[in-house]
Amino acid sequence: MPYRPRIDLDRQINDHLILRTAPGAVDYLAEDVRALGARVLRRYPDGLLIEYTGALRPLAASRYFDVLAVDPAALSDSLKDGVLSALLPGGDAVRFRVGDLGEERWAARERFESEYGWENSPNAWDVNVEPGGAEIGALYLTQRFGELQRTPASTNPVVAAVLTRLAKIEPGQTVLDPFCGAGTLLVHAAELARPGRLLGFDLQNRWLRMAADNLRTRGASALLARADAAHLPVESGAVDRVMANLPFGKRVGSHRVNSALYPAALAEIARVLPGNGRAVLLTDDKRLFRETVQRTRLIRVIKEIVLARGGLHPSAYVVTKRGR
Ligand SMILES: C[S@@+](CC[C@H](N)C(=O)[O-])C[C@H]1O[C@@H](n2cnc3c(N)ncnc32)[C@H](O)[C@@H]1O
Repeated sequence: MPYRPRIDLDRQINDHLILRTAPGAVDYLAEDVRALGARVLRRYPDGLLIEYTGALRPLAASRYFDVLAVDPAALSDSLKDGVLSALLPGGDAVRFRVGDLGEERWAARERFESEYGWENSPNAWDVNVEPGGAEIGALYLTQRFGELQRTPASTNPVVAAVLTRLAKIEPGQTVLDPFCGAGTLLVHAAELARPGRLLGFDLQNRWLRMAADNLRTRGASALLARADAAHLPVESGAVDRVMANLPFGKRVGSHRVNSALYPAALAEIARVLPGNGRAVLLTDDKRLFRETVQRTRLIRVIKEIVLARGGLHPSAYVVTKRGR
């Protein structure tokens, strides 16, 4: 059944909203929302407080936030002409759950039931009331774009959107992810750019099968194969863009394995890229990565962005060939 959000995305709203994202992605989010006429009222390390006037649909189309919440101070106004007025409970009361409010949760629950006429429904809800704001379930990233299957080390979709942007994929280009896992980066490349050909390699067949499923459900296709990133089955200079979330040596692999893998994989990436090629590589094994790039001599880092997520602080490195 097609997904029908319990929210009217075409309703014009005026609201104070908190958009939560990955640290490192805030600038891209600010750029997106300013382009829609929003005013940025406050910046947080992992989000923005904005004043937004307009339809929800273009805001919901941004890839750079995963949670949209109504500012706790703006709930009553939001019910009148903000996001909360756009909820479509289909004739029922708006369903809510109260999150981590500590002792205040009882008073909050009472208030939403008696003042707003909402229904407390912890298992199926439209609004999740958290200390940081009232989160709109229909506007979570996974609801807006669909949920991808994930491996334990899959790339967060907001991070994937940033990596794709940094890759500057031009129409028709060949894009390779030599550590593709469940294919998150390939899906984002397909959806956010117009590549000609997508290639994805991984050592594990089960992740390649997941990648094939993910690509299929999102209407994209890629050539997927089991291959070692240290020996890419690709001709020299045949790939325009490489995007990869490298094994950090924590959840996947180990620093010791990386000490051999990074030099081999980076040499291969340098080989398959032409002179004007570009790679965007995410890793938390930063010292090893930088030392390896220096030793490889064929490539250099032109940009680094720290993209914190889930307690880790990996960097996205934009890499080009030396002596272009
Ligand atoms: C951080 S994960 C990639 C996550 C992926 N972007 C996703 O969203 O699912 C790293 C992946 O590299 C794969 N891998 C580890 N060593 C490899 C190697 N030598 N060659 C190819 N793939 C390798 C692992 O199986 C894992 O799927």
